[in-house]
Amino acid sequence: MSGEEDREVLAVKDLRCEFRTIEGSLYALNGVNLTLRRGEIHGLVGESGCGKSVTSRAILGLLDKKRSRIQGQVRFGSRNLLELGEREMRGIRGRRISMVFQDPQGSLSPMATVGSQIEEALTNHVSLKGPSGRAELRRRTALLLERVGLSPETARRYPFELSGGMQQRVMIAIAINCEPELLIADEPTTALDLSIQAQILRLLKTLQRELSLSVLLITHNFAVVAEICDRVSVMYAGQIVETAPAAGLIAARESGAFLERNAFPAHPYSKALIDCIPRGRPQSTRTPLPVIPGSPPRLYDLPSGCPFAPRCSRADEACTVMPPGTERGDGHVVFCHHPVDSVPRRSSP
Ligand SMILES: Nc1ncnc2c1ncn2[C@@H]1O[C@H](COP(=O)(O)OP(=O)(O)OP(=O)(O)O)[C@@H](O)[C@H]1O
Ligand SMILES: [Mg+2]
Repeated sequence: MSGEEDREVLAVKDLRCEFRTIEGSLYALNGVNLTLRRGEIHGLVGESGCGKSVTSRAILGLLDKKRSRIQGQVRFGSRNLLELGEREMRGIRGRRISMVFQDPQGSLSPMATVGSQIEEALTNHVSLKGPSGRAELRRRTALLLERVGLSPETARRYPFELSGGMQQRVMIAIAINCEPELLIADEPTTALDLSIQAQILRLLKTLQRELSLSVLLITHNFAVVAEICDRVSVMYAGQIVETAPAAGLIAARESGAFLERNAFPAHPYSKALIDCIPRGRPQSTRTPLPVIPGSPPRLYDLPSGCPFAPRCSRADEACTVMPPGTERGDGHVVFCHHPVDSVPRRSSP
């Protein structure tokens, strides 16, 4: 194993997913390339419908094989997860790779206490029988609850007695019960109000540090990326169009000067997404936020070449051919023939 591969916990290569629908073939993923480094929080951003959730479900082997055709590679350790059978995947899913979804209420049973649902998750992985086993289960449940910032007494309560933020903490406790190497969180804070969102993000960051977790964090929100991610990948029409360190985004956000002093965003689509972020400006100077012209392509009949070209002001003849990935150093890769020049312009003397 090379040094670079050793740093990787997951490497998705040329992942493709075609759904068979009554309207014909829908090409949801069209060659996704995504590498997660060990111990990083990697943000995956992009407009609704670009394929973020399908990517996570493909990684976990959760797509219906009868209705979809999946190709490519999902390297986890020395194995390609796409080649494993359901039995082998069950040994990985929920043990070595866990998942947290957007809607905790929909994921928790309303009929069982929080404690019994955490205990059930624990017994999927360890056999704890008899009185001493039950005491150990209760002890581990209390520890997990504390780890996610809930009191051990929460075990006796039912999910409907908890706020959305507390329910999401319970889901995170269930997800980390087996100390996974990788946690995939699909919009884990979208259903929560802003202050609770911040608490849950802080919790994810703490757990990532304490448990040496790697996290794939799916979000619509660049502010979330700037807050807690180490790197970010931008997705468009089932492809990653840019991957970059998030540090530039954080520095730019703090200085209030997005797009200056850093190489990200280099892809016109990443730039367009960032341009849509509201900035803190006095009311009187507020101008309407820009919108990205046009709409995402129909995934039934994608244009050949760069899928963003029909909406891109920089597109020309060259863009009818799919651009290869260009390395810009420090793991920054851009798939564009005409990247945005993000070097700051010097003011004239
Ligand atoms: N089981 C399915 N059968 C057919 N099409 C599907 C299926 N699941 C997803 N799709 C389609 O695949 C595309 C990508 O969907 P996906 O759920 O990954 O989007 P997303 O990026 O997660 O969007 P959002 O931000 O709204 O959650 C969409 O066009 C969606 O309609
Ligand atoms: Mg989704």
